Amino acid sequence: MGFSGQEQPETGPAPRARRVVLAYSGGVDTSVCIPYLKREWGVEEVITFAADLGQGDELEPIRLKALDAGASESRVDDLIEPFIGEFAFPAIRANALYEGRYPLSTALARPLIARRLVEVAREVGADAVAHGCTGKGNDQVRFDVAIGALAPELKVLAPAREWGMSREETIAYGERWGIPAPVSKKSPYSIDLNLLGRSIEAGSLEDPQVEPPEEIYAMTVSVAAAPEAPEDVDIGFEQGLPVAINGERLAPVELIRRANALAGRHGFGRLDMIENRVVGIKSREIYETPGLLLLIRAHQDLESLTLAADVQRYKRQVEMAWADLVYQGLWFGPLKQALDAFIDRTQATVNGNVRVRLHKGNAVVIGRSSPSDSLYVDAMATYGSDDRFDHRAAEGFIYVWGLPTRLWSARHR
Ligand code: ARG
Repeated sequence: MGFSGQEQPETGPAPRARRVVLAYSGGVDTSVCIPYLKREWGVEEVITFAADLGQGDELEPIRLKALDAGASESRVDDLIEPFIGEFAFPAIRANALYEGRYPLSTALARPLIARRLVEVAREVGADAVAHGCTGKGNDQVRFDVAIGALAPELKVLAPAREWGMSREETIAYGERWGIPAPVSKKSPYSIDLNLLGRSIEAGSLEDPQVEPPEEIYAMTVSVAAAPEAPEDVDIGFEQGLPVAINGERLAPVELIRRANALAGRHGFGRLDMIENRVVGIKSREIYETPGLLLLIRAHQDLESLTLAADVQRYKRQVEMAWADLVYQGLWFGPLKQALDAFIDRTQATVNGNVRVRLHKGNAVVIGRSSPSDSLYVDAMATYGSDDRFDHRAAEGFIYVWGLPTRLWSARHR
């Protein structure tokens, strides 16, 4: 019962939440979140949830690690199929490249993790969810906005945004509560990975003019190490979605795996860029996203064959807006949905095949075909004797087209 008119009898602040579902990666920050939530923020129960996004980590040790750190329940969910089907494939249709370059390999995973976090929170009757993001990155924005859209009733706790501990202090705090310090302290990099690619930051990469060392890469070989012989790959699309490689129909996850292996082996898919974060910081980012970049390149090319000129041109603006929205954490917003409807509508005719030559860090389209939807008409394009284009008609067209320019020039020249 309450003590009316009196101070709280207990010492310390009120608990932030009672039962919390934490998005868990197995890293130091998210591990330290477990004792921190319980000891500093008065949380009674921390349930962790780790997503399998094809990152290739062993997930059972990660699951156990959360229990060792004090989680009352530790879950691992395989989200690889929805990740590719519902998040990566729409990004291919959108030719989504943030700032013209980054194919959003990390950003695309966040709304899916948030969605699952909310589902688990509802299953276990949690009053809050939590993540281990710091206050400087994009991922906190993506999680918080997505959770707010999907479950406004849930509190979002972000201990690493508030605790103000340095890396060393965080590790020391963890050691006090049974979280072993990272085994190899030698990797100074911050890495995020999933089936779509890897993002590598920090360490020597923080100096924008220092070349990334070869050791940071895992999905792509260097140009020097790539084979001397080129390799041609056929990529089949149906309604804007990749469905086959070299004539073999593949389910989405397997198709991405193959595309990664093919492109990676030829050293294609590395990016080194200075990127504008949502929070205003410019950061130096290294990515390797071989399969996704290969598929986007092929898809863009097939659109050039099968989309009407005005749709193709207009779609470029939609693509840029779509990539910005996904990067900025607005996956569940109304503009994203509206742009998706536009993109969907454009993809019905994006059927066919694209041939790409992989060689020494390059992926060059060397041919494309679309028996059902090609808008390329020989009789119009040819310079040969079966040309059916009416050359004389161009004269009247140019008379009208150039009229405003001639009028302006006559007045002002
Ligand atoms: N800059 C990239 C993005 O915002 C990669 C972020 C990587 N995230 C991480 N927690 N290491 O999508």
